[in-house]
Amino acid sequence: MREILVVPYDKAWPALYERERAVLADVFGDLLLDIRHFGSTAIPGMHAKPIIDVIAVVRQIELVDAYSDAMIRQGYSPRGENGIPGRRYFVRLKDDGESHAAHIHMYGPGNPHTADELLFRDFLCADSEARAKYEAVKLEAAAKYRFSPEEYTDAKHICVLEIMERARQYYGMTLIAAADRNWGIGHRGAPLFRVPADLRRFKALTMGHALLMGRKTFDSLPTQDSLPGLLPGRAHVVLSRDPDFSPPGVTVLHGLDDARAYAQSQKTFLIGGGEIYAALLNDCALALVTKLDAAWEADAFMPNLDLLPEWTMTQEGPWRETNGLRYKYCTYKNRAPACA
Ligand SMILES: NC(=O)c1ccc[n+]([C@@H]2O[C@H](COP(=O)([O-])OP(=O)(O)OC[C@H]3O[C@@H](n4cnc5c(N)ncnc54)[C@H](OP(=O)(O)O)[C@@H]3O)[C@@H](O)[C@H]2O)c1
Repeated sequence: MREILVVPYDKAWPALYERERAVLADVFGDLLLDIRHFGSTAIPGMHAKPIIDVIAVVRQIELVDAYSDAMIRQGYSPRGENGIPGRRYFVRLKDDGESHAAHIHMYGPGNPHTADELLFRDFLCADSEARAKYEAVKLEAAAKYRFSPEEYTDAKHICVLEIMERARQYYGMTLIAAADRNWGIGHRGAPLFRVPADLRRFKALTMGHALLMGRKTFDSLPTQDSLPGLLPGRAHVVLSRDPDFSPPGVTVLHGLDDARAYAQSQKTFLIGGGEIYAALLNDCALALVTKLDAAWEADAFMPNLDLLPEWTMTQEGPWRETNGLRYKYCTYKNRAPACA
């Protein structure tokens, strides 16, 4: 019977992954689009089952079956989909012929399992609290279900789901906006209002992350030497349909799917304006809204989150006041973000 062993991190694991990578590159050649180390052995410092998990993305998943004999010759046993549609799964055993050395998970392009596994890995690498919690749950489950791999996996399940939800919020798109009572956000190409404390909060929240915006919002950034000024310490990602639009220091994307893919790769704040908020609202897990207790003339608006059933206000700060202007910070959560 296979024993669940969770052992301290081994510095040899990255080299063992490299060995798997080299074999797969050799066997599959041009069919391979991407190879990644994932799972717990890919998270430096964390206890793990000493099995090297590999994701390999291929041009066409059906073509993998023709390579089964070549994989068998390299010591892998083909297991078909093994419960995950669209996957081809291979297991390599250790010399004892029983314990597992490597699991190879092969997918075609765009399979959501690839993105989920890499998101989980990256979040655990980035968040020490989540890593410590997951490690503790794994150690407890391994002690309890040493000879029962299924019960071991079940015992971790809730913790994995919780970490995935946090990871999606961490990496996905977070909307950030300042709106008046009518959800107005701008007039004649400029923001409706600028409250210094709100701008400082915007800076603190977004520092080190990406800012995704529409071309008109980019044009409304305070200028430097007659060019829109870049906000320091943050990547600027601008949506435009204009193929000739290419300002220096900016990543230009030409479609919403490109924006969605970008936001899966790193924490991204959707900073407006009205057209972009409306187009990508469903992709955001959280919305941080500074609400102004006033109504001004506006020609750009964001969607009214109080009227949308999928959005719930989860935090409402106290009213604050500056120069007679009242505002408060509110957090909204999307119950079913499209990115999830
Ligand atoms: N209060 C706030 O929090 C806040 C935040 C941000 C902005 N604002 C204000 O909002 C106003 C701007 O909002 P807006 O709605 O007029 O414009 P916007 O959303 O900032 O930008 C619209 C532009 O984005 C590009 N775009 C839109 N959909 C696209 C798609 N599917 N693919 C590729 N590109 C796409 C197009 O650029 P091209 O025309 O180049 O193709 C379009 O003209 C300004 O007044 C600004 O100051 C306020």
